[in-house]
Amino acid sequence: MFETDREVLDWYERQPRALSKAFVDGLNWIQIRDYPLKPAFVPVLLYMRDVEYFTDMYYRELLRTPTGRDPVIRQFMDRWTVEELHHANLLNRFLEEAGIATEANWQREASRRISWTYRLGSYLIDHATIPFGKYFHAAHMVWGAINEITTLQGYLRLAELAEHPVLNRLLSGIMEEESVHASFYWNVAKVKLAQEKFSRNLARFVIGTFWTPVGQGPKKEGETNYVIATLFQGPKGLEFFNRRVASRIERLPGFDGFKGLTERVAPILQTAN
Ligand SMILES: [Fe+2]
Ligand SMILES: [Fe+2]
Repeated sequence: MFETDREVLDWYERQPRALSKAFVDGLNWIQIRDYPLKPAFVPVLLYMRDVEYFTDMYYRELLRTPTGRDPVIRQFMDRWTVEELHHANLLNRFLEEAGIATEANWQREASRRISWTYRLGSYLIDHATIPFGKYFHAAHMVWGAINEITTLQGYLRLAELAEHPVLNRLLSGIMEEESVHASFYWNVAKVKLAQEKFSRNLARFVIGTFWTPVGQGPKKEGETNYVIATLFQGPKGLEFFNRRVASRIERLPGFDGFKGLTERVAPILQTAN
């Protein structure tokens, strides 16, 4: 459908914000407490809020790499980070309206809890990407596609399981934007992967070796596993993940038969069930 990354960017820029001021103002904020919010979903919402917020950190990291200096990706990320930060703030507002006490400076608290091993690791990985230059763009785009698709499907599961009408309305707006992000990353990944065999090999190697579910790294493994187990629980959970997330990545050039995502997620669900 798209021949160049510039076409994907033009498409992205034509998409209106789902979470317009009118949409946000129209949410039934004052009735949030009229509906029960199951306690099991509170850590999930806090996790998602923080991961949305960490986009800004990821963005700053990416700016230090050749991918961040690519003009098309850079232009996308300038708007993308604003949208993700907005998601973080809206989730925090929902939690507060639901009566969940959140710290006044939760952003600083979330950043403070990031482990030093993650900081060191991310620094090393960023600098390790530099020798590969433009060949690494595809790997970054596949990584982003996986994270956006996982986030989108995670919100979908949360909406289905939590059955909270105001949360569902808020999530419907967030999901619309996540779906646009997922399409951007997936389509740019497709364009970049199709260009060079070396990019395909590098991307498959990097994802197969280093990929961990979205948020893990800045967040502790136990927290990530809790969120995955809560959202993709039950006998149909893994099948849902494979159909909605993993199979979409398998359709990218160079990723046919790639089972790396399922191999990471299946043991988490096995332990939980
Ligand atoms: Fe988001
Ligand atoms: Fe997103």
